[in-house]
Amino acid sequence: MADADGNKESVEFHTNIPQKTEGFFLKGSNSLEWGMKDRLARIFNPKSGRTVMLAFDHGYIMGPTSGLERMDLTIVPLIEHADCIMCTRGALRSLVPPTINKPVSLRYSAGTTVLTELNDECTMNIEEAVRLNASLLAVMVAVGDKFEGVTMRNLTHAVDMGTRYGIPTLGVTAIGKDMARDSRYLSMAARVCAENGAHVVKTYFCEGFDKVAASCPVPIVLAGGKKLPELDALTMAAKAMDQGACGVDMGRNVFQSENPVAMLKAIKSVVHENETPKKAFEMFETLKNEL
Ligand code: 5RP
Repeated sequence: MADADGNKESVEFHTNIPQKTEGFFLKGSNSLEWGMKDRLARIFNPKSGRTVMLAFDHGYIMGPTSGLERMDLTIVPLIEHADCIMCTRGALRSLVPPTINKPVSLRYSAGTTVLTELNDECTMNIEEAVRLNASLLAVMVAVGDKFEGVTMRNLTHAVDMGTRYGIPTLGVTAIGKDMARDSRYLSMAARVCAENGAHVVKTYFCEGFDKVAASCPVPIVLAGGKKLPELDALTMAAKAMDQGACGVDMGRNVFQSENPVAMLKAIKSVVHENETPKKAFEMFETLKNEL
């Protein structure tokens, strides 16, 4: 118990300096609770306002994807270079060292594989996400798909449960089989996720991406998609940043690269330092021979 007698009297009230009331740096996040903001500030760098997330959750629907056959050998050495990791609870418990000290975007929905019909998903328990110290709950949302209702309920459930514990939700827009990957569809999917409570949205690049980003009231992170030549992937990332994305959440374009560490560093230079794709590619070429 603190001593009651002999304490130094308070004198430094600085009555001439008003206490600052600062806004939160991330789009659409100012009214969130402290715990949510703390988790988001661990994912998004408060200086650049952006993030480079490394996604390796593919196994939950695809099994041992190329580059992810032995995640202990290919992914674990990459983690230190990412701002945040996106993975399943299975990968986290079995392979990711608990000493990494990186925020985790936890794959919170799970379901049918590529062998059957995709997107028939459910969610895990919130206590499990809390136990794993998740910073973000990643939920697939299939707007316009047969499983739209199921996945929207999953999103709503994740937002409700996450809000109870101060964990934000990432709405991951799935592309329905018959949907065009265009700005009309993607802006609708992103907006629907945000309006239903997602704190961050992951979606694809398209012509008119600036409209997708502008009409989404929360930060958008760019989904990578299938492996592209490195210069093309860097160009796509740079265009997305110019047009309003707040970072990337990439998997195959990193771990299927000729040199994943070099590629991750080149992507970071585009995302955090606004490096041009040409310069970032030169950086990749130099680093790939050194690392
Ligand atoms: C689907 C996902 C994936 O599981 C994964 O994260 C995608 O990463 P990439 O397309 O960059 O390989 O979220 O949307």
